[in-house]
Amino acid sequence: MHIRLLLAFVVSSVSLHGISIAERRTENMDVDHWAELQKGIAMSHLLDNVGDSGRYAKNVNAGCIIASPSNNVPNYYFQWVRDSALTMMTVIDRFLEGDHGLESIIVKYMDEMVRLQKVNNPSGDFYSGGLGEPKFHTDGSSFDEDWGRPQNDSPALRAMAFIRYLNYRFDHGTEAHEVVPYIEALLADLDYTVGIWAQPGFDLWEEIKDVHYFTLTVQKTALQEGAAFAKRVGAWDQSTLYAETIHPIDLKLGEFWDHEKGIIRGYKNIPNRSGLDCSVLLASLYSKEFDTHTLPTLRKLQESMTQAYPINQGHKQLIGRYLEDVYDGVSSSIGNPWFLCTHSAAEVVYKAIQYYDSYGLPELTSHNVQFFVYFAEFGDPYNWPLIRKNLIKYADKFLQDAAEFQHPNGSMSEQISRFDGQQVGALDLTWSYSSLLNAIYRREAIKHTV
Ligand code: NOJ
Ligand code: NOJ
Repeated sequence: MHIRLLLAFVVSSVSLHGISIAERRTENMDVDHWAELQKGIAMSHLLDNVGDSGRYAKNVNAGCIIASPSNNVPNYYFQWVRDSALTMMTVIDRFLEGDHGLESIIVKYMDEMVRLQKVNNPSGDFYSGGLGEPKFHTDGSSFDEDWGRPQNDSPALRAMAFIRYLNYRFDHGTEAHEVVPYIEALLADLDYTVGIWAQPGFDLWEEIKDVHYFTLTVQKTALQEGAAFAKRVGAWDQSTLYAETIHPIDLKLGEFWDHEKGIIRGYKNIPNRSGLDCSVLLASLYSKEFDTHTLPTLRKLQESMTQAYPINQGHKQLIGRYLEDVYDGVSSSIGNPWFLCTHSAAEVVYKAIQYYDSYGLPELTSHNVQFFVYFAEFGDPYNWPLIRKNLIKYADKFLQDAAEFQHPNGSMSEQISRFDGQQVGALDLTWSYSSLLNAIYRREAIKHTV
């Protein structure tokens, strides 16, 4: 016991002087083994933030998912509609794979969302814009202070979560009339989406009012899934309406391709921003399609961040939201890498591998040739087995690099200081865990196919 205490002291005091201990911990880490362990560890941290059973979420509404237990500097002790929907999609995926114990929290979440939709808030009421409200108190009351609102990715993501679960229920014998409140709720989110997709709203980072690549992408996905779902429940007119809205959104999305830079931009033209933004990677993860410009875009983002963040030492791959970010996790100074961005970078590469396994490599163009030549070790850019092997290494490195900065118990805040690697920003950010789980399960899916 004494020895253990002593050891703990030595470890923590040494780690104050840098990241050497953490580095040693993960240096020779077998990624397969580590990923296997993380499934349980990350899930248990995630569930700590789920009301009202989670360790940090006892005094909140059932089904409320707190963004983080941090209730001061920064105060993230709220439920964000976006964070909650993304987290629940991760939970629903585990449920669909057979973890049936998760069903009660999924249902509680859905009940809480049905309630929230009816809460009048600064964006409006149920019929007049209230569905675009980004965040609520943990008791389900409206958050009435100034905020970037509306955030129109939120209802689309919420509808996607509902559809994922309800489709399962229908496949297993439930009939539409048994789940009417949920159906009404998700159709309301989709109707809202049809009405507002072309209007400017705040982005997922809650900073800029405009139309955004991420928001449009998830709106499109929600309407694609919604069109099929509406048909399933006999809502023919709505199904047609949703299906008809997809094409115009698609046209708009095309405007984000920056031919000159060879990147998909997160936004159109914002002064002092290059357009390179990790939200483009997140968009890809919630899209039914795979845009072949995604990987070259990721590579440019990663290379610039590898250079920009001192903690990357010119070779690590920690990823932040966007280079010009000044949000330090509490207030404005200088931006840092984020766990969820780094995990999502890994996941997007696994998703690309899934895609290229099925459809083959894309035509080489001036925009992607460099990318594929590099991953073919400057040989034949159509050598898929070699490229695939190197892409897995590339993707795994995002996870390994982020893992170095986890606390020994696997806990993760929002950000990693670009200077010294300390965790900064909201502690135990729910999204840090769900993004890691998504990456790990996507990795497993491709590892098993070859
Ligand atoms: C500014 C950040 O950039 C944004 O993402 C965050 O949501 C708000 N501050 C509130 O913390
Ligand atoms: C700030 C992030 O930018 C935003 O995407 C998120 O919803 C909130 N924090 C809460 O986690």
